[in-house]
Amino acid sequence: MAAEEPATRKEEPGEWLRVADSSALSEKDRLHLQVKGRYISILRHGQVLHCLDSICYHTGGPLALGDIEDVNGERCIRCPWHDYSVRLVDGAKPYQSMKFDPVTRKLSPDGWKYTQNTQRTHEVMSRAGDSPEGGIWVRLSSGGKFESDQFAYNASAAKNVTS
Ligand code: FES
Repeated sequence: MAAEEPATRKEEPGEWLRVADSSALSEKDRLHLQVKGRYISILRHGQVLHCLDSICYHTGGPLALGDIEDVNGERCIRCPWHDYSVRLVDGAKPYQSMKFDPVTRKLSPDGWKYTQNTQRTHEVMSRAGDSPEGGIWVRLSSGGKFESDQFAYNASAAKNVTS
């Protein structure tokens, strides 16, 4: 088991890494991996691959084991611990906001909004074939600061995802 590492560890940006054979997602729809120390999950939904930090930004729950559902027409994954959803394409959390009218002094719905820099997502692609160029490839995101970074190298939290 890997030792815990500080969440401030940086990946080399722009480096594509081969993480699995292309057949790895043919029978199941999720892969949970440790890449350069970071716990990430690759999810296949239909023909589309998504990659995001495995551990939930909220309090370290097993986000990557959650159900996939549509929220406001967006494909999201719902964390089993507290039911927070994040959008698969960018890790943003959808929420319904309210606005206050200072004239009527009433609150009213203000539509769906999305948080920023919440669950970090990563680029992923699959190349057919068994050659060294084939397989599932990931390019880790490292720019900015995301809330999920605090748990990204936490081996204890990752146990909830990988075991
Ligand atoms: Fe609370 Fe995921 S740990 S919603």
